[in-house]
Amino acid sequence: MIILGIESSCDESAASVIFADKKKKEIKVKSNIISSQISLHAKYGGVVPELAAREHVYKLIPTIDRALKEANHSIKEVDLIAITKGPGLVTSLLTGVETARTLAYAHNIPIIGINHIEGHLFAPFIDNWKNIKFPAVILTVSGGHSNIILMKSTSEYIKLGSTRDDASGEAFDKGAKMMSLGYPGGPIISKKAQEFEKSNKKITLKPFPRPMKYSDNLDFSFSGLKTSLLYRLKKDKNWKKNIDEYSYLYQEAIIDVLVSKTIKAATKHQVKSILLSGGVSANIKLREDLTKKVHDMHLQVFISALQYTTDNAAMIAAASVFNSKIKNKKALLQLKDSWKVLSVQENLD
Ligand code: KG4
Ligand code: ZN
Repeated sequence: MIILGIESSCDESAASVIFADKKKKEIKVKSNIISSQISLHAKYGGVVPELAAREHVYKLIPTIDRALKEANHSIKEVDLIAITKGPGLVTSLLTGVETARTLAYAHNIPIIGINHIEGHLFAPFIDNWKNIKFPAVILTVSGGHSNIILMKSTSEYIKLGSTRDDASGEAFDKGAKMMSLGYPGGPIISKKAQEFEKSNKKITLKPFPRPMKYSDNLDFSFSGLKTSLLYRLKKDKNWKKNIDEYSYLYQEAIIDVLVSKTIKAATKHQVKSILLSGGVSANIKLREDLTKKVHDMHLQVFISALQYTTDNAAMIAAASVFNSKIKNKKALLQLKDSWKVLSVQENLD
């Protein structure tokens, strides 16, 4: 089965063509094109919704064309279109949904709306599906969410914990903003932290708190950590000289909580595999620390390949393989249905 995935929930216009074989439990990515808007939004320190939607209007069609060309397929060979239906910025979602609906109508292709978080959930299944043993626990962390989910199978999953305030990616982004490091903050803080580690300098500052690390649930909270950084910077006249060390300690605090809660969930539910995905999972230290801990438990770890961590359309196409609610062309032609697709601003509750 050839699936065209389209993602436009935030600031990436993305399209991907995948090949999926359900019997063989195989998902292979034939193309994965991401047209990033990072440089457009960087000067504002975050995504500007109106600019993002306008950019999608310019970028989506050429991105889809490129994805098909690179995969060596014509649109006529596509068996299914998978489109992100939410959660996300409504105007950005609209551009993607309307583009996908038009293509589906013009070429008579079935179409399916995919929850963006379910997209992140299935990213580690690309190239790994048949090796993942259930039950599994997945930590999925990005700019908009931080969840620990128990997957009993590919069709049965429940949220065990989530953030009570800011997502972990938001903590990285806001932390970087406070230190005037730019946007998005995750990769920049991670680079600064690496520079500190490489320098072999001694730690001179006190560590940051680990919010909710020892709470008896699997939830997270990152807003206190952010405030803690803000007050520490205000108090320290020389903070600019120690940005690498602040970045290192701040990152350590976030990762420590993410890893320890994931291990706690895995132990409690006696899982066979541990999975990691979402934009924050591009963080090398998080990938290394979780892998080390999982190996100590003699379990298997499946981490989303780097190109499928931050928003992309391959994960949206992959998620559609596990979703049976395929809508037909007729239903999609009704305008009210377009709003139905978009009004489902679902979380995984
Ligand atoms: O999944 P994603 O592209 O978008 C959402 O669904 O939110 O995630 C974006 C988030 C941003 O907050 C960004 O700072 C974070 O992922 N991120 C990272 C790294 N690369 C991206 N966080 C920590 N370390 C990284 N290397
Ligand atoms: Zn995302």
